[in-house]
Amino acid sequence: MLNIEQEGHVAIVTLDNPPVNAIGQAMRQELQQAVAFIDSQESVQAVVLIAAGRTFIAGADITEFGKPPEPPHLPDVIASIEQADKPWVAAIHGSALGGGLEIALGCHYRIAAHSARLGLPEVTLGLVPGAGGSVRLSRLLSAENAVAMVTSGKPVTATEALENGLIDLVTADEDLRRTALDFAGQIIGKALPTGLRYREPLESPDTGFWEAQTQQIARRARGQVSPLRALDCVRQGIELSVEEALAHERKTFLELRASDQAAALRHVFFAERAAPRPPELKDIAVRAVRSVAVIGGGTMGAGIAAALRDANLPVVLIERDEAALQRGRENVARIFNSALKRGRLNEAQCKARLEAITYSVDYAALADIDVVIEAVFEDLDVKRAVFDQLDAVCRSDTILATNTSYLDPDAIASRSRHPGRVLGLHFFSPANVMKLLEIIPTQTTQTEVLATAFALARTLRKIPVQAGICDGFIGNRILKVTRAQAERLLLSGATPAEVDRAMRAFGMPMGPFEAQDLGGLDIAAFQRSAARGRGDSPFAPVADKLVAMNRLGQKSSAGWYDYVPGDRTSQPSETVAAIISEQSTSAGLSVTNYSDLDIVDHIVLPMINEGARILEEGLASGAQDIDLVEIHGYGFPRWRGGLMHHAQTVGLAGIVAKLQAMAALRMCDEPCTYLLDAARDAAWDTARDTARDAAKVESFAK
Ligand code: 3HC
Ligand code: NAI
Repeated sequence: MLNIEQEGHVAIVTLDNPPVNAIGQAMRQELQQAVAFIDSQESVQAVVLIAAGRTFIAGADITEFGKPPEPPHLPDVIASIEQADKPWVAAIHGSALGGGLEIALGCHYRIAAHSARLGLPEVTLGLVPGAGGSVRLSRLLSAENAVAMVTSGKPVTATEALENGLIDLVTADEDLRRTALDFAGQIIGKALPTGLRYREPLESPDTGFWEAQTQQIARRARGQVSPLRALDCVRQGIELSVEEALAHERKTFLELRASDQAAALRHVFFAERAAPRPPELKDIAVRAVRSVAVIGGGTMGAGIAAALRDANLPVVLIERDEAALQRGRENVARIFNSALKRGRLNEAQCKARLEAITYSVDYAALADIDVVIEAVFEDLDVKRAVFDQLDAVCRSDTILATNTSYLDPDAIASRSRHPGRVLGLHFFSPANVMKLLEIIPTQTTQTEVLATAFALARTLRKIPVQAGICDGFIGNRILKVTRAQAERLLLSGATPAEVDRAMRAFGMPMGPFEAQDLGGLDIAAFQRSAARGRGDSPFAPVADKLVAMNRLGQKSSAGWYDYVPGDRTSQPSETVAAIISEQSTSAGLSVTNYSDLDIVDHIVLPMINEGARILEEGLASGAQDIDLVEIHGYGFPRWRGGLMHHAQTVGLAGIVAKLQAMAALRMCDEPCTYLLDAARDAAWDTARDTARDAAKVESFAK
């Protein structure tokens, strides 16, 4: 785990704890012993701390966070480095994150490889730095830079770190070890620099600075506690004595480490890492994906093409005629040009992205493509006609995917000559930005095709979640409940603005009505009319009226709210209020004065019930997959851990009782059996999910 060698008068301490050199109890102990050992070696006059493998130290071992902290504690290990008799030089490659950067800050010098990244991401785990990061950083960086790093959790590049004073030298990746040894050789005999703990902060801003930062960070945090606590730690790091500040930071860290928000964010951290590699597909061979075609260059097709190019895959984009092809070309160009304008891409990258796309109206261009993703109109006949052509021109092993939102992928696959290669790949809009990818196997999809879809998701750096076939798969099925519940609230006394405000206060980026106005009311209306055609009866009495009046949202300057043309500011609408009042009479729901919490309960608890139904029907592999769908597809607050984790934190038995009370007033459905069972066990049934997964693998293997 830790190796010490000596070259001349320089000791080289190499940490080796794959995969990411996380610092757990054993590593802390070895490091502390190494400091004492090296101090006792007279022949050693400088030390290089370097890491083996793909990265420097990715931080404290997150798997230990659910347990009581065990000595030696990281702050003490770092203090022993800082107070060592010999100068320590941290040689950083890959990532120096959290406790990893804090160890580097305990060293007397820091050198980084060009591609390295340095950061304090603790806030993203619901924490603050726990080993002096917020205190030492303000001794190296301006207050503004220290606040930005600690409260956003975003890492900086080696070049930025050199510019802002965080490190002393940047070197080529391949030269890191040599440069660090040379550097260590040069500091031998020089005075030991004062450890950061003993230095004064670089600056001490006035109250106005802290007030402005507080406002900005509170707005961004949307209910998450750690960013403001992190700001407080930087401020105390500057304003208190260093010993008091270190104690304050540690106390805050330990308090937050035991909080629900930290547990939720840890849950998401591990769920995100587990999602791309379902255990049941572990040993399944995947097909090579070297080229991908997209059919349809509209909103989704262009976004999917851009996502593929971002992953450096060559793309063929097919449209139905030359005019549509030209629009598709413009849609793709708009995406990359906007990335260029925002500084996300440079000129050369933008040019390279645009170059490897072949535009064609001729399906013959698909003769040697590995994967085709169809994103044409949401119409079964149109999609089937496209799949007929794909069947005719593609290789028999080409994987064929549909991006349908609501149609049945089985109905598309069943006509194929090779149905085993067909599946759903449901991207979210904008497809080059949104992380979520629902992967929907049909009854006939081969396991190898499914495994390849997960591998493609990894290439695209998406969060893949397997969904079963039902109306809306996982995400849009729950969204229908969100919207229906929001309307029930209107019909029983709440206003659109009250509902939106309550859901924002809960942590959503937007309320359900604002979101519909932004996206357009027509898309959901189209789905409802299709559902009615199938005999379903979706509940949307007010939305139906608005669409009939051509109140389609911001694009028609009228939706759930009124808008002045060209201005996105929403104004309460008297017309909408009149429709609500007219509809509420016929709905016959009792009128109530809702608090923000009541509003949230009326929307979120039925969503949880729908999530439980999805699990009951075996359409998601586990509660955590529903969490990922809600976080990455719909902006559910990450710090609540996603929909189903939130339910467990709140308490399933209480949720059942509230749902039953609301159902008695006809405000939602009764809790489903799966939820009732889970409430009895006080947890989602992972054993049942595991058993179902095993059955699923067996059925795929057949
Ligand atoms: N502790 C435990 N396991 C960790 C870990 C950590 N800090 N960081 C990563 N891992 C694990 C992952 O769970 C994953 O495990 P798996 O293979 O079994 O799924 C494996 O390491 C590889 O991780 P990634 O898939 O994320 O690998 P990448 O190469 O894509 O990314 C990384 C590498 C940028 C280092 C990324 O893993 C990362 O951001 N890690 C978390 C960093 C972090 O948040 N550190 C702060 C911890 S809190 C702290 O240090 C408190 C201190 O102030 C006291
Ligand atoms: P769109 O209307 O913007 O684009 C559809 C494109 O398909 C058009 O450019 C059209 O010319 C092209 N097309 C139609 N028939 C074709 C054919 N036979 N061959 C080649 N091209 C053809 O539609 P959008 O929004 O991009 O949706 C596409 C699909 O993605 C739909 O199935 C939709 O349900 C799904 N989807 C849409 C999302 C959204 O937010 N817009 C989100 C996720 C999925």
